[in-house]
Amino acid sequence: MLVNAKEMLDKAYENGYGIGQFNINNLEWTKAILEACEEKKSAVILGVSEGAAKYMGGFNVVSKMVEGLDKDLNITVPVALHLDHGSYEGAKKALDAGFTSIMFDGSSLPIDENIEKTKEIVELCHSKNVSVEAEVGGIGGEEDGVVSAGELADPEECKKVASLGIDFLAAGIGNIHGVYPEDWQGLNFKRLEEIKEAAGKIPLVLHGGTGIPEEQVKKAIERGVSKININTECQIVFTEATRKYFEEGKDKVGKGFDPRKVLKPGFEAIKDKVREKIEFFECENSAEK
Ligand code: 13P
Repeated sequence: MLVNAKEMLDKAYENGYGIGQFNINNLEWTKAILEACEEKKSAVILGVSEGAAKYMGGFNVVSKMVEGLDKDLNITVPVALHLDHGSYEGAKKALDAGFTSIMFDGSSLPIDENIEKTKEIVELCHSKNVSVEAEVGGIGGEEDGVVSAGELADPEECKKVASLGIDFLAAGIGNIHGVYPEDWQGLNFKRLEEIKEAAGKIPLVLHGGTGIPEEQVKKAIERGVSKININTECQIVFTEATRKYFEEGKDKVGKGFDPRKVLKPGFEAIKDKVREKIEFFECENSAEK
């Protein structure tokens, strides 16, 4: 059964470890992540952006696929199906389709509007026992080939948004989505500490988990980060493994053209990546802790 993400993140926050949000793109992706988490007895958050949901056919397709895999693969660890960077309308649609956790990303709106809309989403989601992530300070990243630097969220704004009854908070601390540029300055721990101090006892979320050096992620977890989002890293290992399959001419051997064979190396690569992250976030056995 799918669950909301509050309990698993509160537990991670109390016990000083991280829970991965792994973004999904299709059935193979989802199955690989669920199998790795079941093997490691780790709770997990499956992240779905609006673009990925559209690609897969829509929120209902995703919701039914995840429910079906959770059931048919006999998954016993807590699994949350989470909308990643949802718009106001997208949040409502995902909620109606059965998502168990929603991120409403109002970070590009003026702060008063972000607060108003976040409040509405909290009320709607909590009436259905669905957890809510809000965001303050945009997470930079590559858009149309331009890489923007990660913003630093204002601690006072974090305090305001954290007090709206949300369950966890994403706040920019210099992190960006995608591969980090050579001259990236690293995470801003001073700002993270200020945000933690201002926001109070609430799990914080680190977006743009791909490529942040391990010791920085550890330091962030020690300072209140309980959810780490990973997307690009799984995409990279999937594509590398798939490329190798073709470069080695395996598609030309026997029934190597069968998509179930073609997608297998990428599937295994994602599984390995998720296992590696679970060990590193120290959330192995978190389903039982
Ligand atoms: P990366 O793609 O950089 O891993 O970031 C994922 C993310 O933050 C999704 O919200």
